[in-house]
Amino acid sequence: MNIQTITTTPFLDQKPGTSGLRKKVPTFQQPHYLENFVQAIFDSLEGFQGQTLVVGGDGRYYNREAIQIILKMAVANGFGQVLVGQGGILSTPAASCVIRKNHAFGGIILSASHNPGGPTEDFGIKYNIGNGGPAPEKVTEAIFAHSKTITQYKILDAPDVDLDTLGSVSLGNSTVTVIDAVADYAELMESLFDFDRIRQLLTSGSFRMCMDSLHAVTGPYAYALFEGTLGAPVGTVQNGIPLEDFGGGHPDPNLVYAHDLVEVLFGDNAPDFGAASDGDGDRNMILGRHFFVTPSDSLAVLAANAKLVPGYKDGLAGIARSMPTSQAADRVAKRLGIEAYETPTGWKFFGNLLDAGKATLCGEESFGTGSNHVREKDGLWAVLFWLNILAVRQESVEQIVTEHWQQYGRNFYSRHDYEGVDSDRAATLMKNVHDQMHTLTGKRFGAYEVEYADDFSYTDPIDGSVSTNQGVRIGFTDGSRIVLRLSGTGTQGATLRIYLESYEPNIAKHHLDPQEALADLITIADDIAGIHTHTGMAKPTVIT
Ligand code: G1P
Ligand code: ZN
Repeated sequence: MNIQTITTTPFLDQKPGTSGLRKKVPTFQQPHYLENFVQAIFDSLEGFQGQTLVVGGDGRYYNREAIQIILKMAVANGFGQVLVGQGGILSTPAASCVIRKNHAFGGIILSASHNPGGPTEDFGIKYNIGNGGPAPEKVTEAIFAHSKTITQYKILDAPDVDLDTLGSVSLGNSTVTVIDAVADYAELMESLFDFDRIRQLLTSGSFRMCMDSLHAVTGPYAYALFEGTLGAPVGTVQNGIPLEDFGGGHPDPNLVYAHDLVEVLFGDNAPDFGAASDGDGDRNMILGRHFFVTPSDSLAVLAANAKLVPGYKDGLAGIARSMPTSQAADRVAKRLGIEAYETPTGWKFFGNLLDAGKATLCGEESFGTGSNHVREKDGLWAVLFWLNILAVRQESVEQIVTEHWQQYGRNFYSRHDYEGVDSDRAATLMKNVHDQMHTLTGKRFGAYEVEYADDFSYTDPIDGSVSTNQGVRIGFTDGSRIVLRLSGTGTQGATLRIYLESYEPNIAKHHLDPQEALADLITIADDIAGIHTHTGMAKPTVIT
């Protein structure tokens, strides 16, 4: 085995963000850049000699090159076996599934999620631990620390591995096995949902669905599941061929970026159900005919209907949501008599709750929903969950959601993003909010009175770890909230996120447009934070 030890010097910008290290492709293509980070991952782990590593990515530009480097480094560092998805493909939830099923030591996932791909666009890498979930902060901090002091890395001198042919090959003293990227995941889905009932719905002729894979990783999974096993007509899946640049699109399933799907679902003769997933398959957007389901409502509806789904028929242990996600799910938890957890933004914070059996369903307002079946959010899982509910209830998406509001009241919700803000200006804005935070309690803004204002911090109930500075919360006495935080996943400048929520028990007002219902809070957010002045932007770049 020809292991090379290469001398290197640290890059000082390899701090993992909300979900791994994300940079522009040319940054990753600099000599030693990827290698340093991969070695920093391995240097921060212990006890993996002879163990299994899972590797796969969302197929974006530079995926294959990165995988070859990682395979050779994993072998040189002593992993006994590497499982890699065929063609270098594994959706993020499928990678989580494969790690768990094979009792792997961990996995490396190559993705920048919903960020655009291509030679000058984004690339990303993250490490997942043996439970299949994103590495917790203590691991990502150790990786960052190693990346700052690294002096050498190990890599095998060997020809590239054929990633397209299924089966095992030797690489150095280890084995690389190219696995079917879809099979294990599809089997897991079949164990959770009532496929017979969903098949009846999709083949009945009276129900039509449209799944938009946005030319990203879920294409092969969606074809296999919907048009294959579940018998939906050919053409149900659109944009299903994964492309390195996602066809030039922005693979983010929201009303702005999944516009083709939105046009279909809000057009004439619209299908009954529409869904989209993101670059790496962990996000989802759910649409009914002429109807958008906010991710926060989706979590609440799934929780309220979970008993209709075989995998969850015995009930839920608890529901966890990220802090900025609306409190709609808390109302369901209360009625079900189960615990509701509020965690910082980022899926990694759900891992301990899921492992400890305290939460069964988890969700984020950022189009992320999932459960204890894996340790990532899971786009197609959410689509199947909705289909299972629709198949059982035989009602439309709109009926199901409006009935939900009638029972629980409606949490109006919206997120306003200001993307590409100059980093210094964004920092000044947040400092300005911080400076006022302690003076806000008791202050009145029109009909609203501030009940509390703080910077969210979280103590993990399982391991006691504390995460501070997770976003400013301004809560009002009527339960409304404004949350402000800076994105931890962007690669250029800063993205300011403003989360707005109000609660409306009055059924007569449930039909309101959220921007209308939240208009006062939108103005108050600007009064407090000086958003337009500081960003120099008249309006948000994305509203979801
Ligand atoms: C964003 C979302 C967050 C999600 C993350 C990864 O992070 O807001 O909920 O977990 O992407 O998909 P942010 O850019 O806000 O740090
Ligand atoms: Zn994603």
